[in-house]
Amino acid sequence: MQARRPLPALTALLFLCLLLSSGAQENPTKPRVQVDPLNPMILSSSSVVLNCSTDCVTSPAIGLETSLEALEESRGTNWKVWRLSNVTSDNSPLCYVNCPGKGQGSSRTNIMVYEPPKNLELNLETSQEQSSLPWIPVGQNITLSCHVAGGRPRKNLRVVLLRGAQEISREPAPDTLTTAVVKFQVTASREDDEASFSCHAELNLQSKGLKLYQESSAPLKFYTYDLKKLQPKLVTPMILETGTKKQVSCAMDNVFPVEKAHIQLSWGGQRLIEDNITRHGDMLRVTATIMATEEDMGDRELTCSVTLGNEIRRISENLTVYTFLQPVLMVSGPVQEGYRVNLTCKAHPPATVLIEGAPSDEPDRISLIAQEEDNGRSFTCQATLKLREEIFHKNSSLTLNVKFPPKLDEKCSPNRTWDEGTEQILQCTARGNPAPTVTCVREQQMPVNGGNQQMPFNVSTRVVRSYSGTYNCTAKNSLGVASQVVSVFVK
Ligand SMILES: *[C@@H]1O[C@H](CO)[C@@H](O)[C@H](O)[C@H]1NC(C)=O
Ligand SMILES: *[C@@H]1O[C@H](CO)[C@@H](O)[C@H](O)[C@H]1NC(C)=O
Ligand SMILES: *[C@@H]1O[C@H](CO)[C@@H](O)[C@H](O)[C@H]1NC(C)=O
Ligand SMILES: *[C@@H]1O[C@H](CO)[C@@H](O)[C@H](O)[C@H]1NC(C)=O
Ligand SMILES: *[C@@H]1O[C@H](CO)[C@@H](O)[C@H](O)[C@H]1NC(C)=O
Ligand SMILES: *[C@@H]1O[C@H](CO)[C@@H](O)[C@H](O)[C@H]1NC(C)=O
Ligand SMILES: *[C@@H]1O[C@H](CO)[C@@H](O)[C@H](O)[C@H]1NC(C)=O
Repeated sequence: MQARRPLPALTALLFLCLLLSSGAQENPTKPRVQVDPLNPMILSSSSVVLNCSTDCVTSPAIGLETSLEALEESRGTNWKVWRLSNVTSDNSPLCYVNCPGKGQGSSRTNIMVYEPPKNLELNLETSQEQSSLPWIPVGQNITLSCHVAGGRPRKNLRVVLLRGAQEISREPAPDTLTTAVVKFQVTASREDDEASFSCHAELNLQSKGLKLYQESSAPLKFYTYDLKKLQPKLVTPMILETGTKKQVSCAMDNVFPVEKAHIQLSWGGQRLIEDNITRHGDMLRVTATIMATEEDMGDRELTCSVTLGNEIRRISENLTVYTFLQPVLMVSGPVQEGYRVNLTCKAHPPATVLIEGAPSDEPDRISLIAQEEDNGRSFTCQATLKLREEIFHKNSSLTLNVKFPPKLDEKCSPNRTWDEGTEQILQCTARGNPAPTVTCVREQQMPVNGGNQQMPFNVSTRVVRSYSGTYNCTAKNSLGVASQVVSVFVK
């Protein structure tokens, strides 16, 4: 408690004396008054001892006018000493002397109070409450405020913002009675990430014969991050056939700090298990494998998201899962010479089909009357699927197996004239489907000289005279029989 004693009686007396001295006699020999120490600088809350002395030797009345609690400590004939205790702010006590016959004189001393800086606190001014370290995007302007208690006189106080040991900014402190708040505007940079910011106060009273008083705050840290205005880039096929696997990847460049960023892929709302997440320089990359099943048919969204700080960057693309089966190429009815044969081709819509050689108005069918020449003929049906700018083909082929009855070749000439003793083959071939069996059997005849002998069929033989005669050559398959009479003459 500070007891303020305004000393009204003394003031009134002083006033009266002043009036008297000014009104009655302007005395040039008024007493000289000296206060010691003159203009002292003291530590706040400490006490100061003032010695007020005068050159008046005729029982002077010495008084001190101050709002501070003043305790007289000692006195002499022409001096008085007071102790002013607990001085917490600047004050200018007035010492006055009433010298009988000489009037009044006075002198002031200006007590200046100093106080080293203390209780420094550095705060980040953010809009939201933070439980953990705040995240600041690079480029954002932030305010770091340093609170300093004490640190007087303020005109000798400088407040410094430090990042680590590096001085960022130095500001004078406002001249307030209470705690000084110095605000530093900082544009968040990459270097600020997890850096130790602190504020440091310096009260320099060296010019007053005192010290340089210094004090620092506890360190303040925050995270900075940088995603620029970028989006991740997805590398994915747009379509995927059921039953197949494809690798998809997503990457983002210029991510800072890349090790604190998270990247993930999801497909159809479900997170994909990553094959690999790599961080290279400022680049973040994820790869995953997508496997398409029947249930995934249709369009599903593939999303890549990068999370860092309070921000998330996403990109999505539709991935179409499709099934594309081989077309089915079929032939209807009995495939037999002279019959109408219809070839049709089918595929799952939206795939379209085209049988090679089919009319353009009916590309999915070919109708023909089967001929012998058509046996073994190949037909190809091509199915085409157009999906999101991509075109796929699948083929099915079919070879016609045209059944036809036996047909004896021209080679099966009806007249064979051979020289006796030469090597010959009695041969006859026939076409037909199924492949016909051919036999040549000698007709029953009256025996001639040398007898009747059947020439072996289809075997190289030395011709003898008795082979001469008429042979019935027959080709046979399930569809019919063809025959020809072959005459053999042996000369
Ligand atoms: C000194 O003064 C201050 C404020 O004027 C007061 O709060 C404090 O209690 C005083 N201290 C003493 C020891 O009187
Ligand atoms: C006060 O000042 C006077 C004049 O300088 C001196 O004579 C006296 O000893 C001083 N008193 C004390 C207690 O220092
Ligand atoms: C941040 O402050 C600087 C300088 O004070 C100013 O040029 C810039 O436009 C500010 N940026 C933002 C995002 O407010
Ligand atoms: C992950 O990717 C890196 C670089 O692309 C490669 O070296 C590494 O082998 C990959 N790891 C796996 C498990 O695929
Ligand atoms: C082949 O198609 C035609 C019409 O295009 C039809 O009249 C005929 O019955 C079909 N034949 C077979 C064997 O399906
Ligand atoms: C499918 O058939 C078409 C002709 O119909 C042909 O041009 C293409 O090469 C075939 N493709 C394959 C994969 O066999
Ligand atoms: C086969 O020979 C007979 C008798 O020599 C003859 O009458 C017939 O014209 C011949 N036929 C052919 C096709 O050469």
